[in-house]
Formats: sequence, C-alpha cells, structure tokens
Amino acid sequence: MKEIVKAGNLKKVYPNGTVALKNINISVQNGEFIGIMGPSGSGKSTLLHILGGLDKPSGGYVKVFGEEIHKLSEDKLADFRKRRIAYIFQFYYLLEDFTVLENLTLVAEMVGIKEPKEKALELLEFLRLSHRINHKPYQLSGGEQQRVAIGRALIVEPELILADEPTGNVDSEEGEKIFKLFKELNDKGITFIVATHNENLKPFFTRIIKLKDGEIIQS
Ligand SMILES: Nc1ncnc2c1ncn2[C@@H]1O[C@H](COP(=O)(O)OP(=O)(O)O)[C@@H](O)[C@H]1O
Ligand SMILES: [Mg+2]
Repeated sequence: MKEIVKAGNLKKVYPNGTVALKNINISVQNGEFIGIMGPSGSGKSTLLHILGGLDKPSGGYVKVFGEEIHKLSEDKLADFRKRRIAYIFQFYYLLEDFTVLENLTLVAEMVGIKEPKEKALELLEFLRLSHRINHKPYQLSGGEQQRVAIGRALIVEPELILADEPTGNVDSEEGEKIFKLFKELNDKGITFIVATHNENLKPFFTRIIKLKDGEIIQS
C-alpha cells in the first residue's frame, strides 16, 4: 500500500492562543476510508484543514503525495490543491448565482478538464441530479446541494477527498445515502478522510481516528 498522507508532531495554536492540536501523528494509506471522530471542539476541522493545505500548522510537518505541503508558498499550495485533493464541507459553499451545471463546469474549466460539460452532465446523472441541472442552489434541498458539492469535488478526478461534517445539514436518510456514495467512490480507489461527530456513520469507516482536546486518543 502507498502512503499518501503523513503528518508528524503536528501542532496548531490559533492567533488568539487556542491550542487546537497538540501532537498529532498520522499516516494514511491509499484506499483508506478514515473517520476523524470526536466531540465538537476536539480539533477535527483544524486537522482536516491542515492535511488539505487549507491552513498551516504551528509546528510539525505534513506530507501529502510525498510533498511537504507545510513548506509550500501560497501560490504553490493553491496549485497543489487544485487537482489531486478535493473538499466537501458541511455548508456546501456552492456559487449561488450559478446553476448546478455551471457550478461543476466552472471548476472543470478552471483546472483544465477536457469536455467539461459532458463530464459534468455525466456526474450529475450519477448523482441523481439530472432533473436539477438548470436550477440554482437555493432551489435545492440540503441533500441535493450536498450532492452538487460532491459533483464539484469529483469533477477534478481527485485521489483524495477530505470531507468535514458532510452530512451535518442533511437528514439521517440522506446522510446514509451520501455515505453509501462515498463508499462506492472509495471502492473505485478514492481515499477519504471524513470528519464527523455522527456515531451512526461509524460502520462505514475502515479506520477511525479519535480526537479529544486536540490529541489522538485512538487510531
Ligand atoms: N479560527 C480559529 N481561531 C481560534 N480558535 C479556533 C479557530 N478555529 C477553531 N478554533 C478552536 O480550536 C479548537 C478546535 O476546533 P475545531 O478544529 O473546529 O474542532 P471540531 O471540528 O472538532 O469541532 C476549538 O477550541 C475551537 O474553538
Ligand atoms: Mg468541525
């Protein structure tokens, strides 16, 4: 198995003095479906942001696909984030003034995907959203908006998906569907690291990393 994420002695202190991560050591292998679990405030989002290059650690190192991302400049980091990693958040962050289809094609064009429209339509069909392509995000249910966000993540053909409370704003039935979809994508080879405090989702994970007060108490 190939190690795709490795972090050691990770520490995060926010400017206001809050110590969010203390001494985190993590190794993620290609193909894993990892749950980062723990109560609210335990450091799940902070850890995910650092692993994905969205934030910098205050100490320690993070290697993703062999690249020491904590050392990269903002420009290089932005470039690095574009293709191989994708993010899914609790609040979707869709472009509100654009249609569902455009939310996907704009990202596809930005990263240089060939035939962005065909690819987007194919993905939207897979996500059961074909009847929604010309709608705008506000016209969709929470579950549908999250599926659009998943489509936007998938269109860059990522090897690694980082998801932060992806089912935090959908009902439990839709949440299960989203996780089944993740599982299907994981079976196709995409590695997942998912932060959630939802205990019902535990059975989906191949491994659980449990955080408490910024420390790993189980992995
Ligand atoms: N931008 C920030 N500035 C200061 N403190 C923060 C910031 N983001 C998170 N925190 C604090 O860091 C700790 C961990 O937060 P977070 O990583 O969001 O945990 P979780 O995702 O598990 O709820 C909490 O005490 C939180 O209040
Ligand atoms: Mg969080």
